[in-house]
Amino acid sequence: MKQIQIAEFGAPDVLQCVEVEIPEPQAHQVVIKVNAMGINPIDYKTRRGLGFVAEKAKSRLPWVPGYDVAGVVYAKGAAVTGWEEGQRVCGMVNFPLPAGGYSEYVVAMPEMLAAIPDSVSDTDAAALPLAGLTAWQGLYETGNLCSGQRVAILAAAGGVGHIAAQLARHSGAQVWGTASVSHHDFLEEMGIKPVDYHDEKSLEKLKDMDFVFDAVGGETGIQALDFLATGGTLVTLPTITAEQIMQAAKERGKHARGYTVHPDAKQLQTLLEYIADKQLQINIQKRFPLEEAAQAHALLEKGHTRGKIILAV
Ligand SMILES: NC(=O)c1ccc[n+]([C@@H]2O[C@H](COP(=O)([O-])OP(=O)(O)OC[C@H]3O[C@@H](n4cnc5c(N)ncnc54)[C@H](OP(=O)(O)O)[C@@H]3O)[C@@H](O)[C@H]2O)c1
Repeated sequence: MKQIQIAEFGAPDVLQCVEVEIPEPQAHQVVIKVNAMGINPIDYKTRRGLGFVAEKAKSRLPWVPGYDVAGVVYAKGAAVTGWEEGQRVCGMVNFPLPAGGYSEYVVAMPEMLAAIPDSVSDTDAAALPLAGLTAWQGLYETGNLCSGQRVAILAAAGGVGHIAAQLARHSGAQVWGTASVSHHDFLEEMGIKPVDYHDEKSLEKLKDMDFVFDAVGGETGIQALDFLATGGTLVTLPTITAEQIMQAAKERGKHARGYTVHPDAKQLQTLLEYIADKQLQINIQKRFPLEEAAQAHALLEKGHTRGKIILAV
């Protein structure tokens, strides 16, 4: 089977396609035959040698990136119950290590998986897990989003942002989203009030927010503390700058929190049902063949994706 590995950290061309044996499941594992994989910024940050996963992976190279997979159960260990061979499944698997999703077949723990509803495509199911769980957990676990709140989503057109924006709308919040003007039609279609982050005047619309969902981080996250109403909360995603933003919040008497996504099959199943019920739409910007993982990374790394980028077998 084909698999994408990195033997060293670096630019996209360190992603190499190799042939390896199809894995065998242990008693408590399943093997998924993967049809589509989602890619996420953590994949390219780790490939570059940045962040907490790279720190752990550096002594375990070669490393196979990827957490988001959709496909069918190909084989299962003797102790696995609840899943049958041939059943359509998706999940955020093997997070943070060993990862391994950029493979035609991947070993996974069955409790990380959710069943893909008939009406949901493999592509959407592969795009959903990490970004969808991040959106859910940021809004409802780390944050405490309530109906009627004023919410700003920073990077609302991105992989996590476009899901968070739709969830916040469904929860009855008033939602503003930052993006370049080229994405504003996309935000409006989702019922989001667009704000051009390149334009100071446009940013003035972000006042007295009860909740800021910061999918950008760094200086942008620090500046966004000024958008908060008294008692409001900023939840920041990029883990590399979370401490810095929480410290800045403390100095200004504001409230900011960071978090790291975790697998949760129940939340994932709920999100899949939202897609099936057309309450949530996943935008796929582009699909690449697995062998073109380097091109897919190069596009995602530009930082201007609308929705998600997918690898397909
Ligand atoms: N803590 C966690 O567990 C966790 C989980 C998932 C993701 N993350 C992190 O969250 C961040 C977002 O992830 P993602 O998958 O949504 O990334 P993404 O899909 O690559 O985000 C792309 C979007 O970012 C927008 N953008 C870039 N700079 C911006 C700015 N200054 N202001 C507003 N929008 C801006 C772009 O819009 P334009 O084209 O208009 O520039 C584009 O639509 C990443 O840093 C990722 O590592 C953290």
